[in-house]
Amino acid sequence: MQLNGAKLVEDVTLKLAIESVADKGYFEGLDVLVTGCAGFIGSWLSEALHSLGSRVTCIDNLSTGRYDNIRGLVGSSRFKLVVGDIVEVDLGEGYDLIFHGAALPAPDYYMAKPVEAMLPDSIGFYRVLRVAERSGSKVVLMSSSEVYGDPEVVPTPESYWGRVNPVGPRSPYDESKRFAEALAMAFHREYGVRVTIARIFNTYGPRLEPGAPYARVVTRFIERALRGEPLEVHGDGSQTRSFTYVSDTVAALLTLASCSRCDGEVFNVGSDQEVSVAELAELVVKLTGSRSSIVHVKPRPDDPRRRRPDITKITSYTGWRPRVSLTDGLSMTIEWMRWRMS
Ligand SMILES: NC(=O)c1ccc[n+]([C@@H]2O[C@H](COP(=O)([O-])OP(=O)(O)OC[C@H]3O[C@@H](n4cnc5c(N)ncnc54)[C@H](O)[C@@H]3O)[C@@H](O)[C@H]2O)c1
Repeated sequence: MQLNGAKLVEDVTLKLAIESVADKGYFEGLDVLVTGCAGFIGSWLSEALHSLGSRVTCIDNLSTGRYDNIRGLVGSSRFKLVVGDIVEVDLGEGYDLIFHGAALPAPDYYMAKPVEAMLPDSIGFYRVLRVAERSGSKVVLMSSSEVYGDPEVVPTPESYWGRVNPVGPRSPYDESKRFAEALAMAFHREYGVRVTIARIFNTYGPRLEPGAPYARVVTRFIERALRGEPLEVHGDGSQTRSFTYVSDTVAALLTLASCSRCDGEVFNVGSDQEVSVAELAELVVKLTGSRSSIVHVKPRPDDPRRRRPDITKITSYTGWRPRVSLTDGLSMTIEWMRWRMS
């Protein structure tokens, strides 16, 4: 029963991602490289590309990604898995399209391994861009709302330059994303490489790994609620985030890839439904039917107060808008996690 529920959630998620792509025919027969493909977003993206008829090469060192996430693709003649570190592995050549997603985005992880966390979006991405330059590939960079740091302007438009502590504990992630964006634009201006930058806001859904010490807030809350353990909110919980269901994020990435007008441009990708972390905790408790309490623990250093994207630009360039409400997305994620934890 639970396995069927989880399978249904996975099928619906993939269908939602594909349905919302503006130009589905664009991907048929393309050679596509996805770095970080065994991770959360990368695995959904790889599956959607495969369903749309692309040949997908997947590079991942499986540091936080899981083989299970891409198991369904292994064995297909249009799928190739390369297990290795993008800092040194042979990346291959001749791609039409490259999505760069290899990174260590979980705060607990990049705070514990700050040096390692800075490499995929610096040395790794430099190597990816060199391949793109030689092959004439279009590149979509999975950047982050973290480039804005703790913004003074909310909803935040792409034109906002950010307020980031360059030496704080979050800096290995924030600054390597900022470096990756600068490097993408440098390759675009100097060598004409076609790049589009997607600044992704908090994305959640099935495969955002439960049980890991570096699990992110949505899965951490759901896991605690399903176990009947207290949900730990950092600080007073009034800090806000805009949570986006993974099918919407994947649809945005695919839509940006097929948009030629989007070359050399940067776009916010996220939901404009802003909720506080305390509200998220309450909603998770309600939707799981849990008896868990909500407790407050010490605030995270440099934690941004508010996160909400201005999505006017991506909507006007491509028509993309998020389609899945927070309640629906959380309900699907809860169903999937019940199975994953059983
Ligand atoms: N999920 C979010 O809320 C969110 C928000 C903003 C930006 N992003 C960005 O989107 C991308 C995907 O994020 P995600 O949430 O799926 O994270 P994830 O951790 O699930 O996936 C990242 C993948 O990269 C792989 N990886 C890490 N270092 C590597 C290396 N040196 N060589 C090869 N592979 C390596 C990991 O094993 C993992 O599979 C990342 O670039 C992340 O920064 C995600």
